[in-house]
Amino acid sequence: MWKKFYAWLDERIGLDSLYKATLDRPEPKGNWWNTLGSASLFLFLLQGATGIFLAIYYTPSPDHAYDSIQYIMTGVQFGWLIRGIHHWGSSLMVLVVFIHMVRVFVTASYKYPRELTWLIGIGLLLMTVGMGFTGYLLPWNQKAFWATTVGTQIAGSVPFIGDFILKALRGGTDLSALTLQRFFAAHIWILPALLVALIGVHLFLIIKHGESQFPEKED
Ligand code: HEM
Repeated sequence: MWKKFYAWLDERIGLDSLYKATLDRPEPKGNWWNTLGSASLFLFLLQGATGIFLAIYYTPSPDHAYDSIQYIMTGVQFGWLIRGIHHWGSSLMVLVVFIHMVRVFVTASYKYPRELTWLIGIGLLLMTVGMGFTGYLLPWNQKAFWATTVGTQIAGSVPFIGDFILKALRGGTDLSALTLQRFFAAHIWILPALLVALIGVHLFLIIKHGESQFPEKED
């Protein structure tokens, strides 16, 4: 019954060829340093899963944001655990993605034909930092408010277009309900959508080119 259903599905979607192209490949001859990309991917998925749970109770308005977080911590079963994983996971993800980038640099894996994989990687690093920056405001406590005030002020010091960037980020001249709404939209929709798209191309290129060889003494 199950075999028949699988054959029916395979004929329409091509599951077997999809499996062969994506997963049925020779094991790369790497070492532990080669696991950091997959660790970044795991942390991204973990952040996505825990973030979805948090979004069920979180309210992105100045009147309710702080209280909704308090409720997650004290009123929701295992809410403290889910928030804790999301909170520490974000710092860990920035760290792991950064070390992954350093390893790619040290082994010179950004060279031909992997230049595009590297460039997309830079986009991934920026998006990851952006996720941390936008997420930091969401608890709407004193630390979040003033950190974002300073962060957006720094972005506003860019020559010529600084004022535009500051107003675009804050939704006006000051931090307000509009800022919180904007950061929330960026944190749960815009940046994750960009990350999913970029990770998709990143992985496609990794499958296409295979894992690079670590340089030998002679190289
Ligand atoms: C969300 C962030 C990222 C994810 C999920 C991710 C995922 C991966 C995975 C699964 C691999 C294959 C395994 C490995 O070599 O570790 C890989 C390889 C690679 N990544 Fe990333 N990556 C991310 C960020 C970056 C960044 C920031 C850069 C550089 C700016 C980068 C550049 C590369 C390159 C050039 C390779 C090929 C390495 C080789 O063939 O030896 N990635 N990435």
